[in-house]
Amino acid sequence: LKLGVLISGSGTNLQVLIDACARADYPAEIALVISNKAAAGGIARAEAAGIPVATISHKDFDCREAFDDAMHEKLTEAGAEFICLAGFMRILSDKFIERWHDRMINIHPSLLPAYRGLDTHARAIADGVRFAGCTLHYVRPDLDNGPIIAQAVVPVLPGDTVETLAARIQVQEHRLYPAIVRLIAEGKVMVEDGRVVYGDGV
Ligand code: GRF
Repeated sequence: LKLGVLISGSGTNLQVLIDACARADYPAEIALVISNKAAAGGIARAEAAGIPVATISHKDFDCREAFDDAMHEKLTEAGAEFICLAGFMRILSDKFIERWHDRMINIHPSLLPAYRGLDTHARAIADGVRFAGCTLHYVRPDLDNGPIIAQAVVPVLPGDTVETLAARIQVQEHRLYPAIVRLIAEGKVMVEDGRVVYGDGV
């Protein structure tokens, strides 16, 4: 499966996907990384792995759709068949999302449907919840509200800060993302009636 990975930041999730794709038996490869920020740390990770990177700044376009069209063009040119959002901090247009229906997933640092949007860790700590985590889900026009593929749970511990909680959750993000992309590439994850079902043997 040829992946396009969209990033805006440090790219630690991109890194685990790069590492997974480097394994001989892994059924996916990264065709293109797109960053909307020239300063994103993930760009160097892709370059170090010899993966094509495009930096497309949303600021160069007058509207969201034009920016998304430019990304779509690059992705199709590169032969991408599936998109992994990995810390991509732009809201995507409905048009783009529909074009990649059931072919685009996102990792979100909360146990959805709790804590959609930004500042998930700070809000979880402020609420005193005992558990937090991350969710991999298909992308739908409604923000952070697509069919849930997998979740991982971590405890919120006394004295946790945004940083300590985020780090604990990221360990799970890094475990989940390549494992689920493998299942998707193997055709073992399907969406039926708006819910994710797994194939036999999973
Ligand atoms: C992750 O915590 C992810 O859940 C969120 O953005 C962050 C990206 O981190 N969507 P990184 O750039 O992969 O290190």
